[in-house]
Amino acid sequence: MTVPAATTEGSCGPRREATWQAFLQSQSESLRAAGLWRTIEPLESAPGPTVRIAGQELLLLCSNNYLGLATDRRLIAAATAAAQQLGVGSGASRLLGGTLALHEELERRLAALKGCEDCVLFGSGYLANVGTLAALLQPGDTVVSDRLNHASIIDGCRLSGAQVCVYPHRDVAAAAELVAQASGRVLIVTDSVFSMDGDGAPLQELHQLATRSGALLMVDEAHATGVLGNGLVAHCGLHGQIPVVMGTCSKALGSVGGFIAGSKLLCGYLRQRARTFFFDTALPPPTVAATLAALDVIALEPERGQRARDLAQRLYLGLRELGFAVHAPIAAIVPVIFGESQPALAAAAQLRAAGILAPAIRPPTVPAGTARIRLCTMATHTDADIAHVLHSFAQLPSNFRLPPPR
Ligand SMILES: Cc1ncc(COP(=O)(O)O)c(C=O)c1O
Repeated sequence: MTVPAATTEGSCGPRREATWQAFLQSQSESLRAAGLWRTIEPLESAPGPTVRIAGQELLLLCSNNYLGLATDRRLIAAATAAAQQLGVGSGASRLLGGTLALHEELERRLAALKGCEDCVLFGSGYLANVGTLAALLQPGDTVVSDRLNHASIIDGCRLSGAQVCVYPHRDVAAAAELVAQASGRVLIVTDSVFSMDGDGAPLQELHQLATRSGALLMVDEAHATGVLGNGLVAHCGLHGQIPVVMGTCSKALGSVGGFIAGSKLLCGYLRQRARTFFFDTALPPPTVAATLAALDVIALEPERGQRARDLAQRLYLGLRELGFAVHAPIAAIVPVIFGESQPALAAAAQLRAAGILAPAIRPPTVPAGTARIRLCTMATHTDADIAHVLHSFAQLPSNFRLPPPR
């Protein structure tokens, strides 16, 4: 005899719901117990070099708005004019009526910035990485990926169904071995400036490896574009030579959006096959106009990137002198390693009391045992701001100072 569906649902509904409640509760409790519960605090001001949170003025040391462009009057004017002329939303995906001349202009400008034939815009850098990796790779292919690549790269690799081979951070010899053993088509993927470690990928060696082995090289320039001129690719003398260059408009460019620059063939294919491109609403006109204005500013004022880098270098040298385990920055990211989550949280709380916003970064964002405070400099920080950060670190207990990283 068949049991009517209503009866089955009626009897197991409450039990199923209780299972979900228990799952959510136990997961939340274990995150709290491990010191991994994150709190979200809204800013009460624009994201300038100082911000207000819960009525307190804080020096912002954790923003990717490296050049201070998110609050630049030229970007705001461009966004305002675009909103008045074209509205605040694009209303549709790029393929179904959402494309404006402005999107295509930005794609041309970004392609030129990266020395490539073409460029495809996505809603964010995350979407650019996930959509591109999933479109390029198929089951049977191999992707060779640096261990410290950004989560969006990891997620794109997983989604693609390709075999994922991870090499130790920056270890080109290990990457070469993985490439030699790989089957199918091979793609090598790396951040250019690593988001949590602030160091640079060995791009010349990876380029040589890709060239001699026939692998496709994809480089994520999220933290380099605008801070290191056009990016680390150009900085390493490889301008226009990397087949897949990813970038984001949401960090140094002060706006939002992601992109892939490459050949016309590559970008044409991605417009057909990258699901995060065509199943996602096109970027809104004010955002695109702001990014175009940002490209003008970085061309006119390259000293902004230099200033953010100089301040990062000053922080690094000062913190090293104080005995902290600090990584040398190639761009504007200076990680200070505390090891376990608890000392990192305690240090962040003490810095907060001194008027500095620099939260602890904990697993799973970084590997276990490497909890840290990731300091990011902005071109708009003053010399006095950096001196205050160094002074505040000097007040932290001496047992927070670990041996320097290798
Ligand atoms: C290396 C790297 N790639 C990609 C992204 C994603 O970019 P977006 O914030 O524009 O989604 C980030 C963001 O933090 C990143 O650090």
